[in-house]
Amino acid sequence: MQYFNDYLKKIKSVPLEEITEHSHRSALQILLEKISENKKDNIKILHEPKREGKFGSPDYKITKDSGIIGYIENKKIDADLNKILKTEQIKKYRELSDNILLTNYLDFFWIKKDSIQKETLCDIFTLTKFKTLSKLNTDGVQKLIENFYSQTPIGISTAKELAIALAIRAKNLKDFLQDELTQQQKENSGGLLFGLYETFQEYIFTDLSISEFADAFAQMLVYGLFQAKLNADTKTVTLQNAKYFIPQSFKLIQELVGFLDELNKLEYANAKWIIDEVISLMNNLDLQEIKKSMLFSKTVKDSENIDTDPYIYFYETFLAAYDTNLRKAKGVYYTPPQVVSLIVNSINNILQNTFKIKSGFADRKQVTVLDFATGTGTFLIEILKLILNNIPVNSQSKKELIISEHILKNIYGFEYLIAPYTIAHLKLAQFLKEQNYEIKNNERLQIFLTNTLEPTDPQIRIPLLPALTQEAKNAQAIKDKPILVITGNPPYSGHSKNTGKWISKLLKGNDIYSKEKTENQANYFEFDGKPLKERNSKWLQDDYVKFIRFAQYKINKVGQGVVGIITSHSFLDNPTFRGMRQSLMQDFDQMYFIDLHGNSRRKEKTPDGKTDKNVFDIMQGVCISLFIKKKSLKKGIYHTDFWGTRDEKFEQCLNNDLQSIEWQKIEPSKPFYLFKPQNKDLKEKYFKFWKITNIFNINSVGVVTGNDKLFIDIKKNNLYEKIKEIKATKISEQQQNFSFSNKFYEKREEYFREIKTKKQKIIKINYRPYDKRYIWHNEKLLERSRSNVMQHFIEKENIGLIVSRSAIGQTSWQDVQITDKITEFGIMSSRPGNAAPIYPLYVFQENGNTNGNVRK
Ligand SMILES: C[S@@+](CC[C@H](N)C(=O)[O-])C[C@H]1O[C@@H](n2cnc3c(N)ncnc32)[C@H](O)[C@@H]1O
Repeated sequence: MQYFNDYLKKIKSVPLEEITEHSHRSALQILLEKISENKKDNIKILHEPKREGKFGSPDYKITKDSGIIGYIENKKIDADLNKILKTEQIKKYRELSDNILLTNYLDFFWIKKDSIQKETLCDIFTLTKFKTLSKLNTDGVQKLIENFYSQTPIGISTAKELAIALAIRAKNLKDFLQDELTQQQKENSGGLLFGLYETFQEYIFTDLSISEFADAFAQMLVYGLFQAKLNADTKTVTLQNAKYFIPQSFKLIQELVGFLDELNKLEYANAKWIIDEVISLMNNLDLQEIKKSMLFSKTVKDSENIDTDPYIYFYETFLAAYDTNLRKAKGVYYTPPQVVSLIVNSINNILQNTFKIKSGFADRKQVTVLDFATGTGTFLIEILKLILNNIPVNSQSKKELIISEHILKNIYGFEYLIAPYTIAHLKLAQFLKEQNYEIKNNERLQIFLTNTLEPTDPQIRIPLLPALTQEAKNAQAIKDKPILVITGNPPYSGHSKNTGKWISKLLKGNDIYSKEKTENQANYFEFDGKPLKERNSKWLQDDYVKFIRFAQYKINKVGQGVVGIITSHSFLDNPTFRGMRQSLMQDFDQMYFIDLHGNSRRKEKTPDGKTDKNVFDIMQGVCISLFIKKKSLKKGIYHTDFWGTRDEKFEQCLNNDLQSIEWQKIEPSKPFYLFKPQNKDLKEKYFKFWKITNIFNINSVGVVTGNDKLFIDIKKNNLYEKIKEIKATKISEQQQNFSFSNKFYEKREEYFREIKTKKQKIIKINYRPYDKRYIWHNEKLLERSRSNVMQHFIEKENIGLIVSRSAIGQTSWQDVQITDKITEFGIMSSRPGNAAPIYPLYVFQENGNTNGNVRK
């Protein structure tokens, strides 16, 4: 065939030693075009610009009509394609496309989903000898390329397939965005992407890392494009028009999707090919089928065969394919609808019976609601359903009024991650659409991208994103206005990411932005008006405690209201939380606690010894709390337990509300004010005995390293190896390579200079019962070295008593051990998180004297 011979001639025209990857691109393109002309199929071969990066993007994109059918990657003429097949780059491409052509100009590999077909024009060593190519060879290559062209764009017709396809693309997009962000940061190039990152970091979430932003931004773009397609319906979505299909009422996402305008710049070349892929995917969806499968009227079963809303199911499938760890790490797990239903129905009861608001949530004159950690909007959907259920089926005008005047005015949500924020909007807008309500351009859902726990300056002007400025102002206006109902499922994390000044001070009774006197503010760090004498009050800094404090603050300001939430249950009985409990008792008139248990750290079992499971996939036990404040309401605190398997708990949630539950009235009393029923007789007996903390002079819980993998090992030598490895790593790469905590990271430069590998103190530690290990005992680098007590065990002959502070969930008390070494915090491993102080028998003084630690 003539064009093959022309191709060969061109290839031979450059001496072999001068050939680069790009030398024969034009010859290859002509050949590819000639073969496509034979097919008369409107095939386009587009040469894509590349950006240097870890993986880059393929050299050619092949489209048919509006869809992408495959990619071509070409390598140098002497490249061994069999080796290239095994590279990370090709693995990555294969995740994204089932139709790839790999060539080194002479060999052609057609890579399909499950097979690879190979053809060769001629061998590089004999290339110069040939005048014409053998027909057998050219026919083989011709057929292979024609078959490659014959593939159709991926067509998707189920929500599950779509969620997975989007997740794979979002995951790759995240990698490219992260690469590009790092590049822009390094080059200080003033790129828009890095500018957006800085904006989010400064105005939404100070601790946001580049990787977290890349992650959220990639998810937002992918979901934004999905929303654009839902609105475009049969029209074709393009890079240029996508933002116009995002409704005006969703201005922030419209503005962020506007980032797509940047993609024609070379620096975004790698991200662009993924976005092109997503757009092609969108334009080839069986949209009607997808829409049908995502109707709210159709229930969907989740992985545990439980009915759930179609968007939750979609997002869960998406996250499972995207990054299973992320879900847990970010706490972006959804709240089970059964739990939400119990909370929402109970609040509705309270509105009707306690506040005498006859139509409960549906009263548009009296009721305002805030979900303060909205996530994907599970609570808000349940509330919307409840409001709309009240309206007769044939009364569309009434329905429209309640949507426009109540749902779109008084029902608020705060969320600080763009991905769940986008989904919450998408989900609620689709829900209203199903109710035949199209949100108008001058309306919007009242869900805001904001940090609930950080007030915003009302004069704020956020660079690059005018819509975010408006968003921040609107959110602040809600933070300032009276709200009657606060609900939600806040994050729980002992290592709080919400470290803002305002909320941290508010926990201690100081409202730093208030112009009014604030001496009566609730203070969780005080008990009976005196500071808590806790050595470790870290758990009071947990995220959920801050959200409870926020709700208490809001309701106190108005003087009445109701809070219905699900959180960790540890505040119910942890001694450190006694100040918080006392303060809640002062500010709220009635409190209801449903302890949902499931605390695998406490090894909880049902009262009759059976399995007790958590309603989430977490170890931390949880509870539902309802706090009510209302003038002249009779005071009372009520408690109940839900025990059993997850299904049993869900059933209890579905079959109950505030009125049907059998409550036990409790009367929390000194010294701990436990929000749990207590046996009075035993309590008296218990408090008659000596306190162990009064027997010994000093005690301390075990060491916390902040990074056990780095500091603790079974073999001493491994620790030296790790220290050596750190020494050999550039300081700038240390945090990434060794996952140092932030605190550790800040100190590292200063301390690493001091590290002399062999001089480091490596000693034995009792890590868990009968589990002795070695610890790199560098006091400066350990998160908590507890030196005041541990020093009496280092190079000393001593013993110490280990006694846990609480013994929950055990039939007989067995939380006691003896140690002759320093211990780690989790030494009482039957319940990680259980504080188990050691009480040394001797204390050694600097002057060489040895004293007993028992008080005389
Ligand atoms: C457990 S999830 C809520 C799940 C939600 N109810 C649902 O079903 O999707 C907690 C949510 O709070 C958000 N969040 C955490 N800290 C926040 C803050 N300071 N301001 C606003 N949202 C926050 C997280 O991003 C997450 O989406």
